Amino acid sequence: MPNVAVPIILSKNKEIKMADLKYLSGFGNEFTSEALPDALPKGQNSPQKCPYGLYAEQLSGSAFTAPRENNCRSWLYRIRPSVIHKPFEKTSQGDVTHNWDECDPNPNQMRWKPFDVPAEGSNIDFTEGLHTLCGAGDARARHGVAIHIYGCDISMKDKCIYNSDGDFLIVPQKGILNITTEFGKLEVKPNEICVIQLGMRFSVEISEPSRGYILEVFDAHFLLPNLGPIGANGLANPRDFLTPVACFEDRDVSSGFTVISKFQGKFFKAVQGHSPFDVVAWHGNYAPYKYDLSKFNVVNTVSFDHCDPSIFTVLTCPSLKPGVAIADFVIFPPRWSVAEHTFRPPYYHRNCMSEFMGLIQGKYEAKEEGFAPGGGSLHSMMTPHGPDEDCFEKASEAELKPQRVADDTMAFMFESSLSMAVTKWGNKTCQKVDHDYHKVWQPLRKHFNPDWKPAENNQNVTSGPGDEM
Ligand SMILES: [Fe+2]
Repeated sequence: MPNVAVPIILSKNKEIKMADLKYLSGFGNEFTSEALPDALPKGQNSPQKCPYGLYAEQLSGSAFTAPRENNCRSWLYRIRPSVIHKPFEKTSQGDVTHNWDECDPNPNQMRWKPFDVPAEGSNIDFTEGLHTLCGAGDARARHGVAIHIYGCDISMKDKCIYNSDGDFLIVPQKGILNITTEFGKLEVKPNEICVIQLGMRFSVEISEPSRGYILEVFDAHFLLPNLGPIGANGLANPRDFLTPVACFEDRDVSSGFTVISKFQGKFFKAVQGHSPFDVVAWHGNYAPYKYDLSKFNVVNTVSFDHCDPSIFTVLTCPSLKPGVAIADFVIFPPRWSVAEHTFRPPYYHRNCMSEFMGLIQGKYEAKEEGFAPGGGSLHSMMTPHGPDEDCFEKASEAELKPQRVADDTMAFMFESSLSMAVTKWGNKTCQKVDHDYHKVWQPLRKHFNPDWKPAENNQNVTSGPGDEM
């Protein structure tokens, strides 16, 4: 169903307060938004003359001929077309790379102490403070994933960025991001995320030194996961995804407005004489959005054992293999834990996926020490991991009454089917690698008792072939 926005923001050279922002609700809807009355052409996309003398410009998010369920594009009606810019030149801003061979592969469990937040006065903006931590694949082949860390202490001024390689899923950990996009403005706080897709120009303003994580996918766009037997409702509900409404500025910038393009893993810059945030109206199903993680409807066991952590998937970027994700964005939100005769923390495992974890706030239940907000961990393909010794011992003896888990905490995982490599920045330059991480598992003791006898009525005993029933 079309989601029609009332023209609520009239913003000709008028500053919009982030607190006043309004949004369109829904995931992947056909949205319609205009900041001036009747700015959207009626009945067609590309009239000979657009209302208000605007230019029509299509932004394609899929091949023209993609199946209807995957087809996404938006029409933007703007004061000047995007093509008015000087040539792009390579720029050394940021520390972004897709060179996955900078360092030798490392199958060890890795953990990072909190990444640096630039001190006030560092004068580092969002694009200058981007660092690639790990990743895999090739943006040129449109197949792969990258994980970046950002840290900044100033706003982007007369500067925007767009990604020619893939979609950004941005997870602020410290500081609110006030993001201006071609589609309108988004305020994204810690415990919220936003997705800004391929090609969309955006600029980030902050009011304090800020830090966060970015998951970038090259293959496709993020989707809500299928719910299977869960049914029509649950996990991240579509109505809770919020897309900005049209909002424009008609602003010449004589000193030059810089457009950064992340193209094939490198940054390029081009200068133009006006603000690119001059879209007066737009319609389509290809637009940025944000989501409040506290709105996630948690589903989990109410009897025994664990559902796999896929039950916590907020968004997924599918690969061409059925059920296999290029990357899932998974969260571990506050919830009740009620499983009976069950070891309740995450089980020990070895996974055919790569798992990067970050912590927005609080203490992650499987590792209460050493995994701090703003830090991270990477458990690579088939690398064993699980609770630390302290967690195992406590959980093995704990009284199994209903218990709140993860209050005031939000840990998340970027889980990828690709085998990721850590960059030079991640291994060395950031100076945050916790070389003692492996020690958390070394104290795990042997509990094996060959004389153990199954107690009567022991619910942990299951029957199998050959067991007497
Ligand atoms: Fe894991």
